[in-house]
Formats: sequence, structure tokens, C-alpha cells
Amino acid sequence: MTVTVQATAPAVAPPSAMGEAESCTVVIFGATGDLTRRKLMPALYALRCLGGLSGRCEVIGTGRMRLSNEEFRAQMHRAVAPAAEAGSTPDPRWEAFEQRLSYVPGDPNDPAFHRTLAAELVARRERGSSPNHLFYVATPASVAPPIIEGLGAAGLARNDRGWSRIVLEKPFGHDLDSARGLNRAVNAVFPEEAVFRIDHYLGKETVQNLLVFRFGNSLFEPVWNRHYVEYVEITAAEELGVEHRAAFYEETGALRDMVANHLLQLLTLTAMEPPVAFDADAVRDQKVQVLRAIQPMSPVEVARRTVRGQYGPAADPGEPVPGYQDEAGVSRASTTETFAAVDFRVENWRWAGVPFYVRTGKRLGRRMTEIALHFRRTPQALFTRTPERRLAPNVITLRIQPDEGVAISFAAKRPGLAMEALPVRADFAYARDFGPDLPDAYATLLYDAMRGDATLFTRWDEVEAQWRIITPIEEGWAAPGAPGLAGYAAGSDGPREARALMHGRPHHCWCPIVSKARPRSPGS
Ligand code: BG6
Repeated sequence: MTVTVQATAPAVAPPSAMGEAESCTVVIFGATGDLTRRKLMPALYALRCLGGLSGRCEVIGTGRMRLSNEEFRAQMHRAVAPAAEAGSTPDPRWEAFEQRLSYVPGDPNDPAFHRTLAAELVARRERGSSPNHLFYVATPASVAPPIIEGLGAAGLARNDRGWSRIVLEKPFGHDLDSARGLNRAVNAVFPEEAVFRIDHYLGKETVQNLLVFRFGNSLFEPVWNRHYVEYVEITAAEELGVEHRAAFYEETGALRDMVANHLLQLLTLTAMEPPVAFDADAVRDQKVQVLRAIQPMSPVEVARRTVRGQYGPAADPGEPVPGYQDEAGVSRASTTETFAAVDFRVENWRWAGVPFYVRTGKRLGRRMTEIALHFRRTPQALFTRTPERRLAPNVITLRIQPDEGVAISFAAKRPGLAMEALPVRADFAYARDFGPDLPDAYATLLYDAMRGDATLFTRWDEVEAQWRIITPIEEGWAAPGAPGLAGYAAGSDGPREARALMHGRPHHCWCPIVSKARPRSPGS
């Protein structure tokens, strides 16, 4: 079964439908790095092509590498158009865009470099460039503090001719204390309203759709609570392993890398109360309330309500995938978790008693991020030809990626003389109903940062509340007698031990990751 979208507007609304963002000069720290190549530059160029970027917008890349403007532009061209061959017809849109790109080499630890940058920005403004500055810190986390300090000392955080904003990438610290220290350093230089902490999950189209699904319809909200929902399952499974990021990942692990931010964001958006308005403070106030309703766990609860695991080699000898400890840069005695599962409880009026099972892992059977709300069973098995166990409870599944969409399962009468019920499913798929091209999360977030809209960015008290929940789990795992790391084969559903989180609740189970057979309606 599918649903039909009654479109009254073009499927994907370009940012130009909302107008160009305010003009600014974007200064990228870490411009020769992976994030700039893979995400930022393609997102800026996509914004330009969609008409969301002001014609006055300029981009200054900075980094330790010594590059000329031309070399930087060529690198960035390869990033946005990897398939463009040397000698192929130049794209006039790129040619116009690259005129706005330049590169200033320098060491972000050196205060003199920030003074050079300040002089460059003044000179540009005097030549007619935008007075607004967006500083994007796309460096490893350890470099962020000297950059923030350097910007402050060079007077770049104050701007009496326009605005100055800073965009910070995660991680925002590695525990509550370090996050507080980082925040003090940022707020000593930039006021909180100028700080845009990026969690790219919030820029994903399907994550924003969660808010529209809940608060743009009157159908679902009345059942969105403990009276109707039995449990909620949030999964972010990755097929990839640790790739080339072993040094970072060894220090971080799955809990800090994914649960502390992306998955808690999905949880708060699922559980929050309706905000009084769709604006930055109203939305973030409600999200913080959810985080405050999650009590930090004691070591005993950590042992009962969390599972951590690490992948070993693939079970199938035909697929020679190395185990985590055999990955380049990883210690052979590493105890870093590549899988984490937690049974969170949101202890408030709406959700008391409803488990929010959250799991994430690298090298699982397939890439899949989704939120599933499992509803309570009907109070009575009315149809004698359908045993109760066959009358599957309703499930609303919000598919974040891939195959983005929403599915609702319900029971329907099987055609025939007997009164028999079967599970069927109504399915909305972005690709089928709106077309395949969803805006990239980074394009959405950069556009919002240029417009000064912080709704989809993480406010400081959210970060603090996230660490209040996560740090006790890390401490519980480090305590003597804590349950150890469970092993799982690369390409599997994760450690068998994750099932233990549902102990005593036989109706609860994780959705399979490896082979997720969807119930289909007859004839679909
Ligand atoms: C990043 C993590 O924040 O998110 C990575 O550091 C992870 O380890 C990535 O792979 C997942 O993002 P996405 O958008 O591919 O789900």
C-alpha cells in the first residue's frame, strides 16, 4: 500500500523560495580537511546553485598547508565535481562561484595569523565586501580553543558594522567538565546567540519531518504518549567501520560519537512537548525539558540498562572484513565500543514507564537510521481466526535514512469468507513522492546560520544536559565489575546481549538490521 501526495507546490522547495540568506564572508578553519571537501564546499555550492546564497557571499579557506588561491579552487572543484575531467567543458556556475573563493594560509595557534585575517577582512569590507562574518571551525576538536581565543584577541568576535557568528562542530567536549570548560571559552568571546553548534542530524530533512509529522497533523498527537505507546526504538546502524578515523574514534567510541548527540537529538524530538512557536528558543526549551526528565544512571542501572560491543571479523569467510582491533591505527587490545545500546526512560507525565531503546553501531548488517513507535496491543483478541500473536500491534516507523519516509502498520481484513486479520502498511517514501533529491543537511544548516536561525543548532544547556546523561554511563562502564564488551561479527545485527535490555518484556524486540523483511500489503 502506498499513499498519494497531493502536491500543491513543487516537491522540493529551493531555499530561494525563502529568499537569499544574508550576505557574509565565510571563513573556514580546516579548509583543506575532510569535512570541508566532503560536506562544506559541496553544501555552499549547492546553496549557490539553488539561489540561497547571496551574490556578495565570499569564502576564505584557511589551513596550515601553503596553497595559492588557484590551488585551493582546484581542490574545491574536485570536491564538488569529482567526476569533472580535465579538459571537459567548464561549468559557468562553478566558474562564477570559484571567483568568490580564496585561501589564506596560517597556523591557527599563532595569534599573528588571526591579526592577518582581521586585516584581510577589514580590507575586503573597505572594497565593498559584506561586513558580516561566519567563522566555521572544521578542525579537529583540539584546535578549536586556540581558534576561539585567537578570534577574540584579534577583535573578530565583535563586529559593529555587521554580525559575527561562529559555527562549531562536535564533539563539544568529551564529558560534562570538558564541555563546560569549552563553553566557558566560547562564551568568553562570543555571546551565546552568536554560537551555532552543529549536529548535522538536525539538518536532515527527515529529522525535521518528525516535527511536521507530530505537530502538523492532529491525528497522531493524541496517541503519542504512554497510554498508547508501548515502547520506542531508535536505531542508527552503519555499515562502514572506523575508516581512516581510528585516532579520533579510539578516544571517542560509539556512545560519545553518536548517542551523546545525534541519537539524543532524535529522542528529544520524538518525546518533546509541542513548542509554543517554531523558533529557536521555544523548540530548544522543550528539548531541554526532555533531557532533564532522563535521570542519570547509577552504576547498577548502567549494568542493567546499557550494552556495549565491539565488532570482530565478519562471520562469512567469503567477506574478508577485519575486526575493529585489526583496523589501521587501532590498538590490538582496544576496549573502545563500536556498538552501544541503552534503555532510556523519560520520567515525565507523558512518557513515564515507556522504554526508549536506543542503539547504534559500526559495521552492522546495513545502513539504517529509523525511529519506531510500537503501540500497545488491542485489549481483546476479537477475531477467533486470528490468534492474538498474529494481530501485530501498530507501528509508526520514521525512516531517517536511507529510503527516507514514514510507514504505518495496521491490521486489515484478509479477503475471503473468514474474518481474519493481517498486518498491512501505509508507506510514504520521499524518493517516490517528492523526487530523489533531498537537500543535504549541511546546506540547510549553513543557510540557517547565515540567516541567524538557531532552531536546528544545539544550545549550550542542551549540550550540558546531554553530558549529564552520558557521563554516568561512561563512568559506570569504567567502574570495577562493570559488564565488559560484547563481541559481534562485522555485518551482523550487533551483539546478542542487546536483547537483554528487553528482559522480562517478551513483546519488545529490536527490528532486524540484516534482513529487514517488511510486511507488505497484498498486491503492493
Ligand atoms: C558523525 C560521526 O557525527 O556521524 C560518524 O562522527 C558517523 O562516526 C556519522 O559515521 C554518521 O552520519 P550519517 O549522516 O552518515 O548518518
